Amino acid sequence: MFVIAQLSDLHVNGTHRNRARIEAALHYVNSRAEGIDALLVTGDLTDHAAPEEMLEAHKLITSPLPTLITIGNHDARPSFNAVFRPEVDPTSPVNVALTVGDVTLLAVDSSLPGERRGFLDDVTVSWLRTELDNADGKVVVAFHHPPVTLGMPMMDSIMQSSPERLGDLVDAHPEIVALVCGHAHSGAVTTFRGRPLCLAPGVSSTLNLPFEGSAVVNRDQPAGVAFHLIDDDGRVITHFRAIPG
Ligand SMILES: [Fe+2]
Ligand SMILES: [Fe+2]
Repeated sequence: MFVIAQLSDLHVNGTHRNRARIEAALHYVNSRAEGIDALLVTGDLTDHAAPEEMLEAHKLITSPLPTLITIGNHDARPSFNAVFRPEVDPTSPVNVALTVGDVTLLAVDSSLPGERRGFLDDVTVSWLRTELDNADGKVVVAFHHPPVTLGMPMMDSIMQSSPERLGDLVDAHPEIVALVCGHAHSGAVTTFRGRPLCLAPGVSSTLNLPFEGSAVVNRDQPAGVAFHLIDDDGRVITHFRAIPG
């Protein structure tokens, strides 16, 4: 069984509260690293994309596991690249690949500079197409913004725009066993183009469903982690864990 641990929406902002939640979530994963194959972080590493927040995120996200990180709408390519990938052009989208055994993780940058909604730009679509064409074995595609609505009105208004850009690639590639994302701060499972689409809970906070309260953000829920298990046949089983602070 192949195991991916996924964290999302860390929102490093210099506060002890968020730092403690991130440390607890990473400790939960890292202390079980022997049973896990890869760590995936799907964006909103920071609250405001400030250089000092990105430096703190870089310091906090430490793991013995092979780790793949992409960004969300609260991040920015220049501050991420300056800290995490100083060798690349600062404005490059954060499209990154990791192959472990017969599983390839492709994390693509769904952020749209200056906007809250998501979008896969031409560079990113082209990169993903090439990676999918060259991948052997099972593939998991990760990004920040969900390409479908979730029954969460605020989130649904800032989902991934033009989701057919991703959908056309999914249709053409049956080796994609699952798609995973974040952004909604809500552990959730649905489908996209007939494939499983799993959302990791937010580490920093949870967003309420309409019947859970009038406030959008719920800070009382604990941090969460998703574990995606992939069996030999490519069937994906997602488990969620709450991490008490
Ligand atoms: Fe977020
Ligand atoms: Fe987000």
